[in-house]
Amino acid sequence: MHRRELIRLLGLSVLGPAAGRVAGGPLWRAEAQRRAPDVDLVLTAAPDDARILAGEPTRVSRFHARLRSGPAEAIVASHDDSHLGPTLRLRQGQQVRVRFENRLDEPSIVHWHGLDVPESADGHPRLAVRAGRSYDYDFTVLNRAGTYWYHPHPHMRTGPQVYAGLAGLLVVEDDEEQALGLPSDTSDIALVLQDRRFDAGNRLVYPETGPAGGRGRGGMRMGRGQQGMGGMMALMEMETGVLGDTMLVNGRVRPALDVEAGWLRVRLLNGSNARVYRLAWTHNRPMHVIGGDGGLFDRPVTRRTLTLAPAQRADVLLDLSDLATDSEVALHSLAFPADEAGHTMTMLPGTTAPLPQGSPLDLATLRIRGRNTRPFTLPERLSDPGDGWQPVPDAPIRRIPLSFQAMQWFLGGRTFAMEDVAGDETVRPGSTHIWELVNLPNPMGMEMAHPIHLHGRQFRVLSRTGGRAPSLREGIVDHGWTDTVLVLPGETVRIQVTFSTHRGLFLYHCHILEHEDMGMMRNFRIA
Ligand code: C2O
Ligand code: CU
Ligand code: CU
Repeated sequence: MHRRELIRLLGLSVLGPAAGRVAGGPLWRAEAQRRAPDVDLVLTAAPDDARILAGEPTRVSRFHARLRSGPAEAIVASHDDSHLGPTLRLRQGQQVRVRFENRLDEPSIVHWHGLDVPESADGHPRLAVRAGRSYDYDFTVLNRAGTYWYHPHPHMRTGPQVYAGLAGLLVVEDDEEQALGLPSDTSDIALVLQDRRFDAGNRLVYPETGPAGGRGRGGMRMGRGQQGMGGMMALMEMETGVLGDTMLVNGRVRPALDVEAGWLRVRLLNGSNARVYRLAWTHNRPMHVIGGDGGLFDRPVTRRTLTLAPAQRADVLLDLSDLATDSEVALHSLAFPADEAGHTMTMLPGTTAPLPQGSPLDLATLRIRGRNTRPFTLPERLSDPGDGWQPVPDAPIRRIPLSFQAMQWFLGGRTFAMEDVAGDETVRPGSTHIWELVNLPNPMGMEMAHPIHLHGRQFRVLSRTGGRAPSLREGIVDHGWTDTVLVLPGETVRIQVTFSTHRGLFLYHCHILEHEDMGMMRNFRIA
């Protein structure tokens, strides 16, 4: 991407947000479509059967993508026969058009997590389309190279839809990253971490707090309705976030991936609804973290453990040059005290207990097959130090308590209402603010770690104080650009964000999907 062209594109998007419309409806701002898209694809969400466990297939919801025009490498089918969505591979500066087709039996809409897109392309729940309808997205890829992802975002149904299988990676590439010569092709792998619970018939189990029998959709078995013990327990489980008892990596149980000896780039996504991971390789092989949610860091940050909260990504380099053919390295999640992430509660009647937060987990195995002889040394400098980022000490500070009252999680003292925005949630385009996220203790003892996510622009973590979660804290990398920050129990985390120049209504919320669905989410308006 040439800088001049990017500036031209940015100029265009300032003139008018790219068009977005419900197919068949009126075209908003057709003038923004001055250029044919570089990538034009159809993304369908539909029920499907997947072979996940031995025995019966599992009913899932699944994304499929089909290219209408553009480079064939824009869609990378997911590994093997995984039910995860295909990986979309885009380049900075590309004009992208996506037609989302909703073939589920309930409303849905897709959100491009981490991308700075116009309001009409952001997947706000008020834009959800009914079953059988479609929605057209048009946006320019403004983001830096990095690992982003996409998932549904309908009102109060994000948790169950992601849980049923709707999620995929979105990889952005740019010239700066390419020039670094990082491990690529077969030495660039992705691991999507998700925990799920299955019943004896291999059906996914998800607690349901709605009317009894109302939402047993897509073959996913739901708990009982609001009445009685079942409903109470389901509600409590929603309040702590839904945990599974079976780990899926790229949609499969403990997969073994063949890799070459040499350097390996591993892109990690925590695609779980609520689980926090404390990642480590076998024998504490160093994790050279080269990037986070918003792309490459200025320099590698090396850790033995890496804390990855729901929705977060990490870009990690792993040196496997010393290993002989057939040897193995595994990715684990190490044990940590459950109360560092929060309480875990109960189970649905008739199902196995989910593994509590902090349970040690075996995630995936890398098996050495062959050798990659391409010479590589870990670069000392990776990326331009932060796109000119610097602290703005006189930026306005807004305090946002994370609290629990009357059986409900609050964000800044409020809960979600579809179009509701308060005065302190209204910001100027391109303005810089400091938001202070305060994870308060509460009388009910409902204390949890909350991964707080802002739509649109990536932000910086300025400071992290207080807290009582040493094992998770140790693995946190507050470096570079991020779109989701884990606020541990008792912590105060300050972030600095420069809001997008895209005007409109955007979201910020806890990315424990059950917290989001229950209203630990708010709008902010850029106006
Ligand atoms: Cu990945 Cu609003 O979410
Ligand atoms: Cu997002
Ligand atoms: Cu939360």
